[in-house]
Amino acid sequence: MTQKTRLVLDYITAHQDDLPTPLYLYSESALNEAVRTYRKLFPDNAKLFYSLKANPQPGIVQHLSSLGLGAEITGQGEWDISLAAGISRLLIGGVSKSEQFLTSLCHKNPAAIVIESETEWHRLKKVAHSAERVPILLRINPGKSFGGLNMAGGTQFGLSPEQALSIAQAAASLAHIEFLGLHFYFGSQRLTVAPIIQAIDVVEEIIKIFHQANWHIKIVDIGLGCGVPYLAKDSALDMSALRQQLWLRWQSEIWSSIEIWAEAGRALVASAGYFVARVTERKRLHGKTFVFLDGGLNVHNPGVGLGRFFRSNPVFLFITTAPNDNLESIDIVGNLCTSADCFGQNVEAPRLEQGDLVVIPNAGAYCQTTALWGFNSQALFEEAMLMGDGTLKILQAQHRL
Ligand SMILES: Cc1ncc(COP(=O)(O)O)c(C=O)c1O
Repeated sequence: MTQKTRLVLDYITAHQDDLPTPLYLYSESALNEAVRTYRKLFPDNAKLFYSLKANPQPGIVQHLSSLGLGAEITGQGEWDISLAAGISRLLIGGVSKSEQFLTSLCHKNPAAIVIESETEWHRLKKVAHSAERVPILLRINPGKSFGGLNMAGGTQFGLSPEQALSIAQAAASLAHIEFLGLHFYFGSQRLTVAPIIQAIDVVEEIIKIFHQANWHIKIVDIGLGCGVPYLAKDSALDMSALRQQLWLRWQSEIWSSIEIWAEAGRALVASAGYFVARVTERKRLHGKTFVFLDGGLNVHNPGVGLGRFFRSNPVFLFITTAPNDNLESIDIVGNLCTSADCFGQNVEAPRLEQGDLVVIPNAGAYCQTTALWGFNSQALFEEAMLMGDGTLKILQAQHRL
């Protein structure tokens, strides 16, 4: 167990009876550490953007803003949260942007709008004339897929290199639109270095295609899609090996005149989050032991998008009033009327009683936003941050914004 997890567990144990649950508890020092680690992957002049889709909790966004991060947003809600947190460097991602949204962006001075499709491009052309200058990046889908959660070949995202070249050509003749460069995000939840580096190979090939067509690429935005070990069987991505491999790349000539922008969600916030739920009941039925929690898939969805979640257990930590070395095999379930509401099957756990706590680490990204908030109208979650000085800062829960 890491030192930061030890500190968080110590806090939870000391406040076991009065912590409101279900709770997302974020560790300020873990957030700082994740940002430090991520920053080291890139050259010093690279700009980092936090992808709010991972977790738009205003307290987290505020903290990342104080660390100098920009924001990658996909709609008005994320824009508003970023501005309220004091972020002025905003990158506009998201698919199928409407003419209305694009019109509003033209007057808001974004760092860049990422063009995802020819239709978006036509919409932007139509509305950009009223703006002074709209910077754009073109998102490229190379037509092949990489490991992890694929968002490249075979998916709906981005433009083919040919489509992007013809948009860059058209942009050159428009006074109100500035083609800044290219955007690459090929997928998420990568737990090994190889597919990330293969993706960089492809990025470099595409930059060369643009260079050959005499396009100067000022900015390249890359989302590496670094993964998080949600499940008991996952191994963490080796960040120091990744750093070494990436730095070999950054030395090459092709990157010498390019400013890198890096967008990330999970890698920045997942490890800072701990989901804490309270045991409400233990039950024996047909030879099995079920332990019920006061929140289920309505408040916590680990491993978003990884169809495997329902068949694999996340890592569990336990805080019991009467610690006992004897382990038993239990199923950990939530409070919803569906048998899918099962966090863990055949989990080896100490004997858990009503009031004990179950903690799931690495729960700071996507777990809250993609949970089934409406199911059974059960009470939702609270959110708080454990500050570096050991105090607890209560945050306004995002479902109450
Ligand atoms: C375009 C884009 N950028 C960034 C992200 C954030 O990804 P991650 O949380 O894997 O860093 C996503 C996630 O879906 C995305 O689609």
